[in-house]
Amino acid sequence: MLSQKIYTSRILILDFGSQYTQLLVRRIRSIGVYCKLLAWHASEKEIREFNPNGIILSGGPDSSISDDSPRAVNYIFHAGVPILGICYGMQVMAVQLGGTVQSASQREFGYAQITITGNSQLLPPILHTTIIDETRVMDVWMSHSDHVSQIPSNFITIANTKKCPVVIMINEKKHFYGVQFHPEVTHTPQGLSLLKQFVQIICQCKALWTAENIIDDSIRYIRKQIKNERVMLGLSGGVDSLVTSLLLHHAIGDRLKCVFIDNGLLRLGEATQIINMFSNCFGIDIIHIEAEKRFLDALVGVQEPETKRKIIGRIFIEIFEEEAVKLGNIQWLAQGTIYSDVIESGITSTSQAHIIKSHHNVGGLPKEMRLKLLEPLKTLFKDEVRKIGLKLGLSSSILYRHPFPGPGLSIRILGEVKKEYCNLLRSADAILIEELHKANLYDTVSQAFTVFLPIRSVSIIGDNRKYDWVIAIRAIETTDFMTAQWINLPHEFLSTVSNRIINEIQSISRVVYDISSKPPATIEWE
Ligand code: XMP
Repeated sequence: MLSQKIYTSRILILDFGSQYTQLLVRRIRSIGVYCKLLAWHASEKEIREFNPNGIILSGGPDSSISDDSPRAVNYIFHAGVPILGICYGMQVMAVQLGGTVQSASQREFGYAQITITGNSQLLPPILHTTIIDETRVMDVWMSHSDHVSQIPSNFITIANTKKCPVVIMINEKKHFYGVQFHPEVTHTPQGLSLLKQFVQIICQCKALWTAENIIDDSIRYIRKQIKNERVMLGLSGGVDSLVTSLLLHHAIGDRLKCVFIDNGLLRLGEATQIINMFSNCFGIDIIHIEAEKRFLDALVGVQEPETKRKIIGRIFIEIFEEEAVKLGNIQWLAQGTIYSDVIESGITSTSQAHIIKSHHNVGGLPKEMRLKLLEPLKTLFKDEVRKIGLKLGLSSSILYRHPFPGPGLSIRILGEVKKEYCNLLRSADAILIEELHKANLYDTVSQAFTVFLPIRSVSIIGDNRKYDWVIAIRAIETTDFMTAQWINLPHEFLSTVSNRIINEIQSISRVVYDISSKPPATIEWE
């Protein structure tokens, strides 16, 4: 895949485990340059094979003072390409090149104003005009307790703060740069500009990573992989599988067979909506499979969320395989897996990714799947998928729909899944979403849904005391779904939703509002 033109400019990030590493990858790609993440212990061979135009060493949670803390392979300093070390990445660069790092008495966390004392190609152009009291300053965001106390030979220091003597160190001749702050976070206003200087000016990368080029490249890649064979794609209705299907349709036309499995765990009216959209707007025929009973039967008595995910993943694949046999002559199964699914499932090459939940479309795949797996979006982030979706003709109302998990309502019904619970939850969810649209709040929320709590609480209807179920409302704001804040929806809005749910859905006695942020609470309840 790397032979295509779109990859001719490329940056490698060695991941030392910073929580901002994914953000860093996205920033570089937003500049228009392909960027890949490898674990900090990537070997010389892996790095040579990738053949980057520049290398960025990410931040990380360790202390570079400790002898057994992570180090990059020494080869990178002889590879003849520019290197930018960020926070821990700068410290590790200092230590590996003969400088020293020491622990500061105070941790520096949050905003800081740094004083620029020298010049470099790395500095954002605007810095040449930001002068206070004849001193150049820059606002940055820092989070560190160690700092470089002695720079390696042939480096110079060009920025500091009162607490940190070396905030930017450079060896302009070798194109080695270290910054103690985080240019990748938006709290560093000139951060993107600095990254652009590194990527475009110092590494001389060209902006080839555009939506059009990604589409062309993906189509070429799909054709090359598939040759004359045929592909089945499971449509979930989510952005990722929709974009995958359009790409595949462009690449191989009728040799794509789209299968839509109604597992009984979908939102209200979703199946009809998707099928209509596909046949009417895109002229793609869909094989519609009603499999509610099969999924719900398999989930009887199952309480544990990860087991639910695995069962659902397994049945999806079983059904696809059965359909493939019925259709005959199908060799491939396509999936809309994206880069963050891969990272969250702990099967990326970075050492620091932990298994949070086994997303069914990645972690739950059976080992002996008979179809070959095609995942054309596997290297893309959600924002990139949306951009190419827009180019392929999907409307923004579809592209910016809140995400819906593959295992569907099953992970929004705590414990055992029953048809009765699914129906109640579906109705409650439809009310919440309808009201969000009515109140013009849908787009201000990143994800909102209801959760079914299988506990009974008292309600009084007329003179009768009843014990009915509880619904929770979850609404969050996030940029990357890795962290999220619960959102403070207006009281009147919540009151309307709660009244409608309790009055319109029999057997719901109570509505509660989830005010937990992630971390530690995940967005889904299971
Ligand atoms: P969590 O609950 O992990 O959710 O904070 C983060 C984002 O991922 C979605 N999610 C899933 N998506 N299969 C999916 O396809 C899953 O098993 C799954 N679990 C969570 C969740 O809706 C949120 O957008």
